[in-house]
Amino acid sequence: MSARRLVLMLAAVAALPALALADGLERAAGKALFDRLWVAAPSSTLANDGLGPLFIEKSCASCHMGKAFAGQMSVAGDGTVIARGLATRLGNTAGTGDPLYGRQIQPRAVHGLASEGTVSYHVAPGEPTRPDFAPAFGALAATTKLGPRLAPPLAGIGRIGLVDEAAILTGADPDDRDGDGVRGRARILADGSVGRYGWKASAATLDQQVADAFMLDIGLSSPLAPHPAGDCTTAETACLAAPDGRDASFDGEEVSRQMVGLITAYLDGLPAPNVPTGSDAGAALFASAGCASCHVPAMPKRGGGAVTLYSDLLLHDMGAALDDGVGEGGVASKEWRTPPLIALSLRQGGETRYLHDGRAATLDEAVRAHGGEASRARANYDALSDADRAKLIEFLGRL
Ligand code: HEC
Ligand code: HEC
Repeated sequence: MSARRLVLMLAAVAALPALALADGLERAAGKALFDRLWVAAPSSTLANDGLGPLFIEKSCASCHMGKAFAGQMSVAGDGTVIARGLATRLGNTAGTGDPLYGRQIQPRAVHGLASEGTVSYHVAPGEPTRPDFAPAFGALAATTKLGPRLAPPLAGIGRIGLVDEAAILTGADPDDRDGDGVRGRARILADGSVGRYGWKASAATLDQQVADAFMLDIGLSSPLAPHPAGDCTTAETACLAAPDGRDASFDGEEVSRQMVGLITAYLDGLPAPNVPTGSDAGAALFASAGCASCHVPAMPKRGGGAVTLYSDLLLHDMGAALDDGVGEGGVASKEWRTPPLIALSLRQGGETRYLHDGRAATLDEAVRAHGGEASRARANYDALSDADRAKLIEFLGRL
């Protein structure tokens, strides 16, 4: 371990209580890195510089908040959103980013550099979250659409990595051979691995997901995402020319492989409540309405056993209302990975929001936005008596 890295590790853990340290030095250091506010390079503290040049937030914790570590939105009376944990993707249905602004809007920049512009958000019941982007230098391409994405919860995220890959593949039914209207396909990434993380299953490992978050949301490069200027395009010359925080002691990047690993260890250990998958009225309604075809209660675990997840980790066509026009290499804009329904009990309070763009203020609103392959389940849900619907929602709230 280099002297600098040792200093970094010690600085990261110094502020933590002894109890956290007993839980594992790794996780404690990971938590410190997750909470750390990064600063622009060059700085006097080499260990935490490299922010930007363009970024959305200065720390992971600014977007992943509360007990569930999820994005939140507080909404004013006129629907104006104060978003903490929204990022806006740019692209067309084919998954190509904007030629000028890249794959994501970064509304903030380090001192002395212009940001990409300002973005504000509006919500109205039953409508998609609407971002209003005032670009700083030149218009978006005519085909570029805006795709707001809410930070998903991280409590229980470790469970996703435990699922047996073969089981994900077996669950897929792209041709709907069983005729239940639910298809589902696995996302196979360029290297042949199966995507699991993110709203479109864009990363196969938690390390890769963390590295991508560093790169796109905070503007920090790492060996798994070696782009110190984030997703700045060749047109963004001032961004590309800005100083960066790459250093030999961080594997030649701004964040080392080890630092990514520390955060992953921390996230892997974030607990979600353990809920018995056994039978009660709400669970029975969840199954009989067809929710469990996608939100599979328990997935086979690598090496044996089961993981309580309420997800098949597959992509589903969710219909026109959830289609934001922003695709991703090989994934249509109307396709989404089934989000695990875990830690819902930790997501309570006025600022909790659901679905990929946070449009739903309640679990009921989230279910009523389901379409496409989930149309049948949605119709079953609509047809329930008010009392049964309440039982189903109450069950979700206990997860
Ligand atoms: C600007 C807000 C923002 C910041 C900062 C941010 N995230 Fe996220 N995070 C998101 C959004 C939005 C998504 C969903 C992205 C997608 O799927 O396209 C996400 C997804 C994730 C996921 C995948 C969750 C799942 O259910 O599969 C993980 C893990 C994660 N972030 C960890 C991190 C870590 C670690 C950091 C800091 C290095 C970080 N995030 C910083 C907004 C943020
Ligand atoms: C065809 C697969 C499928 C079926 C069937 C299905 N869902 Fe979903 N569900 C999804 C997908 C995919 C999303 C994410 C959609 C988005 O955000 O655009 C989702 C989102 C949700 C969410 C919001 C989760 C979050 O973290 O924001 C809840 C709650 C939910 N579903 C409950 C249900 C219930 C209850 C049923 C049965 C009435 C059901 N779902 C049926 C695929 C399905």
